[in-house]
Amino acid sequence: MKDLKFYYKKAIKKGFAIGAFNFSNLEVLKAIANSAEKLKSPVILAVSESALRYMGEQFVIENVKIIKENHTVPLFLHLDHGKSFEICKKAIDLGFDSVMIDASAMPFDENVKLTKQVCDYAHEKGVYVEGELGQIIGVEDNTHSDTNIFTDPEQAQKFVKETKVDSLAVAIGTSHGAYKYKGESRLRFDILQEIEKKLPNFPLVLHGASSVNSDTIAMINNYGGKIEGASGVSEELTRMAIKMHNIVKINIDTDLRMAFTAGVRKSLVENPENFDTRNYLLEGQIMVEKLVEHKIDVLLDSEKKA
Ligand code: G3H
Ligand code: 13P
Ligand code: ZN
Repeated sequence: MKDLKFYYKKAIKKGFAIGAFNFSNLEVLKAIANSAEKLKSPVILAVSESALRYMGEQFVIENVKIIKENHTVPLFLHLDHGKSFEICKKAIDLGFDSVMIDASAMPFDENVKLTKQVCDYAHEKGVYVEGELGQIIGVEDNTHSDTNIFTDPEQAQKFVKETKVDSLAVAIGTSHGAYKYKGESRLRFDILQEIEKKLPNFPLVLHGASSVNSDTIAMINNYGGKIEGASGVSEELTRMAIKMHNIVKINIDTDLRMAFTAGVRKSLVENPENFDTRNYLLEGQIMVEKLVEHKIDVLLDSEKKA
């Protein structure tokens, strides 16, 4: 099977991106893999530290193994926002294809030191490492930063050179979660361009890329939910970042959570007599499948070009 490096190189050349979709239950995992298979697109199965704790390591490893065996498309298991050497080492030893060491809240030198330590360990085992420089704001229990500190292009160059990291998450205006912008969404393409000048053809990653679809929110609210004032980054901006820049990996979690919630809520409200958990979880899964298909087809282009 071709590795992530192969796809990142190709993505830069052809102007597409690989979707990194977060999961924290079996239904969402199955939905991501089913949609990838349907569209013949590689995808990254992303697990955060807290999702790993929630599901249990063995559950993740065994289920991903079975799912990989039963699908023909490349599925890469990735640790999202690993905060310590220990958790990255654990993921590497468990057989993850790639890990993110997120030391972006630390001072530059400490970030370099920790990222390099993870790279040294990972590279010996053929595992890919993503680092982060700058801070991507947002609150999602394990991923929290209050201020938006954009990535400094000069520092980015130094960071990659010193750590030997394989890809870099950049802070250019996105944030984690469902409340990203007051008003129109914005991305700092000027900063992105400067980073690319310093790091030509280097794989960059966009976190916080959920678009927070208003129809999905309406569906959640129509079926008893209460989500107000949510907003995401427009798909048009993300598409520009993919097509015209070296963004090769797009991280999406919130959109999947919302799609799943909408499906479950609708099913529960429309079938008040039902208490078979599989029935409403399946409706959530189907919503996530549609969402992932949409992202691959309309946003990422990874089925046609990968
Ligand atoms: O970027 C972080 C992901 O959305 C994971 O969030 O730590 O709540 O699982 P989580
Ligand atoms: P969203 O909250 O925009 O889905 O971002 C997810 C993410 O960056 C996971 O690392
Ligand atoms: Zn993230």
